[in-house]
Amino acid sequence: MKTNTSLWAICLLALMSCNQNQPTQQTTEKPAATPTFSIEKSDFGSLPTGEAVSLYTLRNKNGMTVGIINYGGTIVSWTAPDKNGKYEDITLGCDSIEGYVKGVPYFGAIVGRYGNRIAKGKFNLEGKTYTLAVNNIGNHLHGGIKGFDKVMWTAMPQSGSDPTLKLTYTSKDGEEGYPGNLAVEVTYTLLADNALKIDYKATTDKATVVNLTNHAYFNLSGKPESTILDHEVVLNADRFLPVDKTLIPTGELKPVAGTPFDFTKKYTIGARINDTTDTQIRYGGGYDHAWILTDNSKTLRLAATVTEPTSGRVMEVLTTEPAIQFYTGNFLNGEVIGKKGVKYQHRTGFCLETEHYPDSPNKPAFPTTTLKPNEVYQTTTVYKFR
Ligand code: BGC
Repeated sequence: MKTNTSLWAICLLALMSCNQNQPTQQTTEKPAATPTFSIEKSDFGSLPTGEAVSLYTLRNKNGMTVGIINYGGTIVSWTAPDKNGKYEDITLGCDSIEGYVKGVPYFGAIVGRYGNRIAKGKFNLEGKTYTLAVNNIGNHLHGGIKGFDKVMWTAMPQSGSDPTLKLTYTSKDGEEGYPGNLAVEVTYTLLADNALKIDYKATTDKATVVNLTNHAYFNLSGKPESTILDHEVVLNADRFLPVDKTLIPTGELKPVAGTPFDFTKKYTIGARINDTTDTQIRYGGGYDHAWILTDNSKTLRLAATVTEPTSGRVMEVLTTEPAIQFYTGNFLNGEVIGKKGVKYQHRTGFCLETEHYPDSPNKPAFPTTTLKPNEVYQTTTVYKFR
């Protein structure tokens, strides 16, 4: 990772002097005094096209940092304190842009236009059939061949009482097969209570489907050489979506009670993940399913809590979304070389992707993912450490 800082934006809480779109250029050096919070912009290399990629490091007053690049709106690092106050990176990712361009399974990226799968890459909307790019055993996954994780976003640090980075991207009518020009805004705000808030917003000029999420892979131990099997999980969800062999929901909303999918009480990820007597565990190769939140109020409410016992880190996920995809890194196999040269092995990271249900465009009984002109798509997810 290139670290030559090109710009320091110091947004002192007391001064509140950040300009709307440009961070205040106060000095070219790190300030001597600890800032209340800051956004640092630095060089993250360039794409094969020559386009420069920038890294924005958001820092809160406690010292938590989140590194975000404008390629894919990707979270490339995130430091969180352990029980002794030691900050360590708790996300999987790459040290350089080359790693991301070479190909990673959506590490930390914004996923869209549609998070998760659409069966056979086809759906009907307002009497028309749309055919999407197919990129996952005959299905459409995470927005297609060049989804939102592989495009350049426009990044704009925002003024306010917390370090905030707004990313915008306009997806063209027909991109990856989707109808309508879709204007997307994703805003990352690092709050003073060690929470990262992600606000998603989108508008369209033609009816389309939208399901945005973030695909951060976490290993709360800070040691991604080890698996996540000892992490303890609670999901506030009493039903989940069984899938077929290609991971498309069957349409059933199945109670978790009495299955390895019951995380309404705390279980380690590893406790039942290899219970291959369960068809769904077999199909997912572990956990790779959408859980339906019991509280269907669409308010920002607690969806998941994950505890890593050794470090003592606890992460809470709150969301306005109806579901959460819990994926346990079943497809990681040591091929991707990540930060500090670590080869990410099977189940060394987990994802909690807040979202609408996969394949909703083909399942009229699922909550709709259709967005029409004059409507605003708006969701919020918070990842909070305590
Ligand atoms: C999907 C997995 C997929 C992973 C990485 C998850 O959201 O559900 O099936 O392998 O993303 O691509």
